[in-house]
Order: sequence, then structure tokens, then C-alpha cells
Amino acid sequence: MDIRADAHALYKKNRRMHGEFEYTVPDGFVYPYQWLWDSCFHAIVLSMLEPDAAKRELESLVSKQFADGMVPNIIFWDIKITRPYHWDWVTGKTTSITQPPMLAYAAWEVYRRTGDKAFLEKLYPHILAFYKYLIGNRDPQDHHLAGIINPDESGEDNSPRFDIPMHVDSDISFLGHMQRRRKLIHENRVCNFDAEICMSKNFWVKDVPFNAILIRNLESLGHIASFLGHEQGEQFAKLHSGLVANAMRERLFADGVFWSAMDHDYKPLRVATWAHFAPLFAGLYTKNEADALMSEHFENHETFRSRFGIRTVSKQEPAYRSDAFWRGPIWFAPHWFIYQGLMNYGYKAEAKFIRDATVGLIEQNGFREYFNPETGVGYGARNFTWGALVLDMEEEVPWSQPENGA
Ligand code: GLC
Repeated sequence: MDIRADAHALYKKNRRMHGEFEYTVPDGFVYPYQWLWDSCFHAIVLSMLEPDAAKRELESLVSKQFADGMVPNIIFWDIKITRPYHWDWVTGKTTSITQPPMLAYAAWEVYRRTGDKAFLEKLYPHILAFYKYLIGNRDPQDHHLAGIINPDESGEDNSPRFDIPMHVDSDISFLGHMQRRRKLIHENRVCNFDAEICMSKNFWVKDVPFNAILIRNLESLGHIASFLGHEQGEQFAKLHSGLVANAMRERLFADGVFWSAMDHDYKPLRVATWAHFAPLFAGLYTKNEADALMSEHFENHETFRSRFGIRTVSKQEPAYRSDAFWRGPIWFAPHWFIYQGLMNYGYKAEAKFIRDATVGLIEQNGFREYFNPETGVGYGARNFTWGALVLDMEEEVPWSQPENGA
């Protein structure tokens, strides 16, 4: 199997046009729209395969940015909404919630691989506005942690990390969870998706992967702003990446790992998920802590490690199920974040394990959506784009040093 050629063919097959805009659907059947973090993954992959398409992907993504800077997690692009779980949140054009903020990282990757400064200039105001929104609107306590108002904003829709704030049992079914999220959407509609009010009333999680991704992206924003000579943007990015990192350490770190927390008083959400590994992506563990994380969690076959990769939920959790969407199966976006994190720390053999496991699952199943950690069987959407992230598990480029310019 030639993964690079097959991935490129898949991306062409999943490419859609809407007037002047071009984007890639995660798959044509289950997810026939444009998604925020998916598009960022697509841009990273396309920057290696077809750089002009990578630029168009991000340009279409920011074209529906809200006036307050929020980038919605789905743009429907006038496609008929056919799936019960892709409900229209407010306008019917986009949703009214966001997703993990991978925009700055993706834009910098596209620049790094193309050297196209004009593209960065064009995107810069959108990128800055998005992070200003997250810092300004999602942190009403001024504690330097961004809150999410719905589990879908984490990208891990039914993860058991959110069972307590969602008031559901650990054996909740997929459909039961969907109904509960619909109810939350209706509650948030009442507060008009005003983050501060909705968070204090309905759902407010300071999530570990979301904030780790935010930190790493603020660093990318810093590189972009510095390269383009936007001093204020650079200062904003540097200041807040440090503040969020300190806040994660102060408020979300316990027993050697990071845990998400909820509400104004930070009730800890002690459910062991791959969120323990996400902070590697932002360099938040010291080397000693990271060594302990590797031996206690990454290498532990009773919890996270399977021969097919890393489980999204520890096998020891009552909620763990090997076939249940974000409640245990292996997904390729977490694999990619973990891979990048491991490379940051120089855990090359462990990173190679992630890469080889990803390749193995693709060879066994094709580009499926998620995978049973016990059997390696693939589930969910076919022709799903995330597997192509494995193409970005080959380079050894230090994370803060661009190839071009700067
Ligand atoms: C699922 C995933 C989410 C992703 C979307 C489109 O809802 O949980 O992370 O963005 O599919 O691929």
C-alpha cells in the first residue's frame, strides 16, 4: 500500500467546492461538511501534498468566523443537514460552538512548507482574532484557562471525561449521549451561546487537551506575529501561552498528570484518558515527569498501551469500551498529538511505535474513523481523512524552527 498516494487520492475525492471556496470533508457520507480541527489537519497534510489546496482549506475555514472572533466547529456550506447529530445550532449556516484551536499551528505549517508570506498576512487577522476570543471570552474568572461549553468543543464528543458535567452514567449509550448533548445545545440556545452565562449555568470544563493545544498554538501565533512584524500580536501570544501553561500546572496538575476540571471551583474530573499525554504536545511536563508518565502510563498495557496503539480511555476506567467512539477506541488525531509530543521530548522509539501502529491500522483497515484497541478492527466512517496525518509523522523538524524565513 502506498499511503502517500492513497491519502492524496482520498483528499481529492473528499474535496468540495462552494463558489470561490474549497474545503475537504472528513468523509463524504457521515461528515459531509467542513469541520474546524479536521480542516487544520487537512491543511497540515495538504501542505505536503498540494500546498495551494492547503491554503484554500484554511481560507475557507476562516471565511465564516464570527464577529467576536470565534471560528465555528462546523460550516454546513448549504449542504442539507441530513444527520440527526449534525443539528443546526443557530443559523443553519454554521454551528455556534468551536473546536480545539489548531488554526495557528496549521497556518504556520503551511507557511513553513511553502514560504508564502502573503498567505500568512492574509490569514493573520483571523488567527489573532480567534485566540483573542478564546482568551477574552472563555475565561470569565481571569484564571488563564479557556473553558468549553459543550463536549463537542473538545473534539471528543462522548468522552467519559465529561460524564460528570453531563450528568450521565459511565454505561451511557452512544444515542443516549447524543440526546444529552442535544439537550445541552437547547440549554445553551437559551443563553444565546454567550460563553460566560452558558458556562456558569450549563457546562463549563477547563479541558486538558484543549488548553494544551491552545498553548502550543499561541506559540505558533507568536512565530507568525514575530515573522510578520506585528509586535502587539507577538506580545499577546507570548504572554498568554505562558499564563495558560502556568495555570494548567497550578490548577490541573495532580499525581504526576494533568486532569480536566469543571465549573468555577475546579471540581476535578478524575477520569484517566489520553488527556494525560496531550500536554507533551505543549511541553508542559518536566523531563522527569515525562519519564514517569512514559513508564507508568504510556508503557502500561493494563491502561493505555495496546499493540495497536494508545487507547483514548484507560482500560481500567468503568466507562472503557473497546468499540464505543471516544470511550476507548484508538483515534488518529490523538495519535498525531502524542507523536508530536513524544518527538518534542526525544522519545524517538516510542514515537516510532505510534507511527508504526498507525500505519498498521491503515494497512489492516484502510482509512477508517476509529479502531478497537483489542482487535485492531476499524469502525465508523470509511474514507476518513485523519489517517493521512501519518504523513506528518516522518519529519524531524524542531518545533520552533521554521525552514523558511523568520
Ligand atoms: C466526530 C469527531 C470530531 C470530528 C468530527 C468530524 O464528531 O468526534 O472530533 O471533528 O467527527 O470528523
